[in-house]
Amino acid sequence: MPLIPEGVLDEIQTRVDIAELIGRYVPLKRAGRHFKANCPFHKERTPSFMVNTDKQIFHCFGCGVGGNIFSFLMQHDRLTFPEAVRQLADHAGVRVPERDAGIPSESLEPLVALMEKACSYFERQLADPKAGRAAREYLATRGVSAPTRQAFRIGLAPAGWRGLLTAAKSTGIAVESLEAAGLVVKGPSSTYDRFRSRLMFPIQDARGRIVGFGGRSLDGQEPKYLNSPETPLYSKGRQLFGLAQAKDAIVRAKTAVVVEGYFDCVGLADAGLTHVVSPLGTALTAEQARLLRRYAERVILAFDPDAAGEQATLRGIDLVVEAGLQVHVAQLPPGMDPDDYVRTYGRERLEQLLEQGTSLFEFLVQSALRRHSGARTETKVQAAQFVLPTIAKVPDAMLRREYVRLLAERLHLDEGAVAEELGKTQPRGTAALRTSPAVPHGADGSVSQAPGPERLLTALVLDEPDRWAQAAEAISLGDVTDPTLRRILGVICEWTSAGRSINAAQIVSRLSGEGQASAVTALVELARATPMKDQAFRDCVRRLQATARQRDLANLREQIRAAQDAGHEAEWQRLLAVYQQRVTNGQGG
Ligand code: UTP
Ligand code: MN
Repeated sequence: MPLIPEGVLDEIQTRVDIAELIGRYVPLKRAGRHFKANCPFHKERTPSFMVNTDKQIFHCFGCGVGGNIFSFLMQHDRLTFPEAVRQLADHAGVRVPERDAGIPSESLEPLVALMEKACSYFERQLADPKAGRAAREYLATRGVSAPTRQAFRIGLAPAGWRGLLTAAKSTGIAVESLEAAGLVVKGPSSTYDRFRSRLMFPIQDARGRIVGFGGRSLDGQEPKYLNSPETPLYSKGRQLFGLAQAKDAIVRAKTAVVVEGYFDCVGLADAGLTHVVSPLGTALTAEQARLLRRYAERVILAFDPDAAGEQATLRGIDLVVEAGLQVHVAQLPPGMDPDDYVRTYGRERLEQLLEQGTSLFEFLVQSALRRHSGARTETKVQAAQFVLPTIAKVPDAMLRREYVRLLAERLHLDEGAVAEELGKTQPRGTAALRTSPAVPHGADGSVSQAPGPERLLTALVLDEPDRWAQAAEAISLGDVTDPTLRRILGVICEWTSAGRSINAAQIVSRLSGEGQASAVTALVELARATPMKDQAFRDCVRRLQATARQRDLANLREQIRAAQDAGHEAEWQRLLAVYQQRVTNGQGG
């Protein structure tokens, strides 16, 4: 992103009107000063997609997506950021300088380059006739062919403690960079490779950049899979393994198959089933569901047929439904994961199994009946209550009503009563929205009832950047614990301290992380819906200050305890004095 000078982005944004742009794709209806429409990113019948012409941003209250002109084109036409910029620049008659105009930036490019180098190193190790032999043989026993191995760029982290470290150092890479990338670990006395004797699965973003690794143990070392720690590039809830390889096939099939493991993804791809992704050792997150929504209309969940898999499915279902995707659940025979299945029965039977999968509704009813079976009314009500929270998340009202009818029929309950119960489960979702379109949503798309002080503070600074100067006397950026909020505030601070003004649409272009654009637009809407902004702001500052102070004191207590345990008498005395002074100072206010 920093490859394109910010001045150029700003110039494009002043020339292209967001309502005019979006209006070319979606029919807009005027709503006061702004516009609304049926959201192009999820299915809905009542418009909850807003175009804010003052701030030059859009935001959907239904699915939580939002951003500026660039984000809109990126998501609508599945473009990369530079592609969207170039397209809009052409339209607006702004010239975009070619890459590498020598723009200094704190960009992620060096980290990206380092991850790429590490990936090639692991690939070379696996290809090495001698060093990689055992690992290649293991892959062969798992049935993974050489082309698939190469497509996923699978590699090998050698046994021993310093293979990567030594190789990297010899090419002049600093240990600090390796540590920041999560590739080496700094112990008290030595630094060593994080991944040792592991088969390396590179985790790529949708564009194919290496952002992290999952390493499968080859020598029985625990854990079975070791994953990269969170870095500025990698956050496990935001990425999907296999997406870079699968996305074209997903678009073609309009369907994504979601499996549990790295080996399921690779195994299915090997069998020719390429529209497959996997979350990274966690339940599916809202962000991952929205990421899928960019490519797919339908998701088939094919998790392992065990209790953990059922739990993962149940948790995944709500998010996928909420993102506006259709859901099917594939039911595998006991003891077989998708990889085992395709290797035993072949691609055709797996495809059949996936297609015959149970519908969302059937799956829910069956899960409910496994837990609450019986003819007693109380039991049937319990079963209904198990199903209803998911139904409440279906964005389409007609479909919701249909599910209610089916559920009542299935459980022999009164349809009206079931509908009434659904109404009670709803305040989290759509019902609350219709009466009050200004209800803000969290970054995960859920309605946040009471925004925390960090969120509200950020929203109000975004609304009026000069407010930060008032806050800065009492709190600092470091007191904001949420990384996304801190990043947004950081961008604002940087600009206002240089005496320049910045609007929400500009901030969006300066943030790179997945979901950060929608976080900004959600905050803009939150500020809009907040009455008595100045007073609310002062409250937030006060609350954050108090929290920061509590945290500070807790840290000190921790240090005091450590000094005491270590028998550092002088240090202990000093810290205690500091502590007492802070406690006394804080008493006045
Ligand atoms: P599985 O144990 O089912 O792994 O865990 P798998 O991919 O099928 O591998 P094989 O077939 O046993 O070799 C499913 C996923 O859970 C995560 C990984 O993403 C894995 O692919 N996981 C599992 C971890 O992150 N850490 C672990 O220790 C185990
Ligand atoms: Mn497995």
